[in-house]
Amino acid sequence: MNNISDQNLILKGKKVLLRVDLNVPMKNGAITETSRIEKILPTIKLLIEKEAKIIILSHIGRPKGQIVNGMSLEPISKKLSQYLNIEVLFNKNKINENTIFEINKISNGSIMMLENIRFHEGEETNNDEFSKRISTLGDIYINDAFSSSHRAHASIEGITKYIPSYFGLQITEEINALKRITSEIKKPITLIIGGSKISTKIKIIKNLIKKFDNIIIVGGMANTMLSHTGYKIGKSIYEHSCGNLIREILENSKSYNCQVNCPMDVVVSKKMDGIGTIKDINNIEEDEMILDIGPKTIDSIRKTINNSNTVLWNGPAGYFENPNFENGTKKILEIITEKTLKNKIFSVAGGGETVAAINKFKKSDSFTFVSTAGGAFLEYLEGKTLPGIKALNSNVRTK
Ligand code: 3PG
Repeated sequence: MNNISDQNLILKGKKVLLRVDLNVPMKNGAITETSRIEKILPTIKLLIEKEAKIIILSHIGRPKGQIVNGMSLEPISKKLSQYLNIEVLFNKNKINENTIFEINKISNGSIMMLENIRFHEGEETNNDEFSKRISTLGDIYINDAFSSSHRAHASIEGITKYIPSYFGLQITEEINALKRITSEIKKPITLIIGGSKISTKIKIIKNLIKKFDNIIIVGGMANTMLSHTGYKIGKSIYEHSCGNLIREILENSKSYNCQVNCPMDVVVSKKMDGIGTIKDINNIEEDEMILDIGPKTIDSIRKTINNSNTVLWNGPAGYFENPNFENGTKKILEIITEKTLKNKIFSVAGGGETVAAINKFKKSDSFTFVSTAGGAFLEYLEGKTLPGIKALNSNVRTK
């Protein structure tokens, strides 16, 4: 496995094409969440220290091969420059015959960021000519964009056919953390999975049920489980046509000896903006909806976590955006982070809503690992081979 931490790798004076994921949330031209920028700093600092010429490739948004105002990487190049306290040259032209001359002018240890790679049609179509063309801009290629590695795009997959290619530090850290919840597991291991739709997470459950000791289902997904197992859930959101999926989960849980649990008590309300009442799941009225888990369920989750060595959390326990229904999500966070800080468990969290909850309650430093990836994190947990990672593993050329 080619990795840039390899001490024998000479980077001095080399043009390094560094693919990162700077697809950060923006509002009115301002970056609203910066963790993806922070996570790539160690790789960039290493390249600066080793006096490489750093050419940053990234995408933001989905411009579909067109130049779209408002999807430029320029504001992000400025932010990166602030973090590193050095100039980040921004090349706002689309890649053309002059790009290589502009790159050749940069000195050792400096950085040039190219404009949004998705402004080129060949990026998302993984066009061979385009892959070859971008490969000629550098001497070596590094993928440090785990969160984009589920995309078979030119700057992620195609390029590796034409240039010696390496894993960056961030992608390596991510893969190592995910291995510890999928293959190199310290058991007992527990998954707490929430969010609104069970159908979108069914492949994860099916893959992990074979390896996990406990799966605790919370959030809107639990409503679907409860409804299909005979409970009356009032007007709570749930998915109607999931009977077969639920049967499959329950059968698999027996075959693989994995304990699957749903809430035993919940917090209900008649309105999303209402206040909550704690109820046993047998007592829900027709005009009530489930918006959080209750104290008995939280207690049982605590016991399960206390008996675990590894915990994976994906998806909130309730409608945590309303403080009246945030308690379950907040408590799960507190329990996991307390055990992590005492070194009692290895904990991993990931997924868009999960990271939003972790940020809301300011707990990002208290997990062993928080993934900034969305789709890539979920596909990895489904057991899929990510094209970007496969491409790096098959690239055996060195320079
Ligand atoms: C992400 O935010 O998950 C990655 O940047 C990939 O973006 P995409 O879903 O637009 O391919």
